[in-house]
Amino acid sequence: MTRTVLFLLSGILLFFTGCSKDQESKDSHQPHIAVTAVDPQSVPEITALGDSVAKTLLKTLKGELIQTIKQSGPVEAIKVCNTKALPLTRQVAQQFGANIAVKRTSFKIRNPKNKPDSLEVQALRYFDNALKSGKPLPAHFVQKIEEDGQTRFRYYMPLRVASLCVNCHGDPNHMPEPLKEALHRLYPNDRAVGYKAGDFRGVIRVEISPENS
Ligand code: HEC
Repeated sequence: MTRTVLFLLSGILLFFTGCSKDQESKDSHQPHIAVTAVDPQSVPEITALGDSVAKTLLKTLKGELIQTIKQSGPVEAIKVCNTKALPLTRQVAQQFGANIAVKRTSFKIRNPKNKPDSLEVQALRYFDNALKSGKPLPAHFVQKIEEDGQTRFRYYMPLRVASLCVNCHGDPNHMPEPLKEALHRLYPNDRAVGYKAGDFRGVIRVEISPENS
């Protein structure tokens, strides 16, 4: 008798929990996102556009850095990075179109605003794994993102550390004291140090949405 009741009860409970789960998945409108890594050669226009946006940004930032370091030294140049890098990044993106968004990111970040999201982590891993397995650094990586019936792409260009970069991303023990202090003051959780020339530093990510979006 008790067994039958228990059996019936569990049946009813199962019925209800099953039901509520069904209800949940129908009600909560979760956007459906599918991400696939695509061969850059299969989307030549995306790759070419991503390439030119990323190169333009790199040229703009490097130009600004070199000029300021020459004129006023690396401590002043930190201010350039601190105040100008993000607005300049936005400006370069806008120059190419309202459907373009650009970001610089890395496994070891200095500015918390540049923290990688999960798709960017996937791209960073792609380049890192290639290097770890002794392969040359790939020229780019492309993701196709399908969300709610719309398709957009992310193009990634890897960045290597040049000797210019070591000034501010190298071993802190070799940095002049004012530079070290300025970095520490602005970025108390700075992880973007300890790099040597030639190291993989991070990526420039260019997101390309449909033009009418
Ligand atoms: C004068 C100092 C300075 C030099 C030189 C410098 N950087 Fe930076 N870098 C910074 C500062 C400050 C930030 C954080 C502010 C920002 O740009 O968002 C930063 C941020 C970055 C970021 C974004 C990710 C993060 O860590 O926040 C990348 C990528 C980067 N630098 C790469 C480079 C490369 C590559 C070079 C050489 C071409 C270079 N940097 C040269 C100071 C410098």
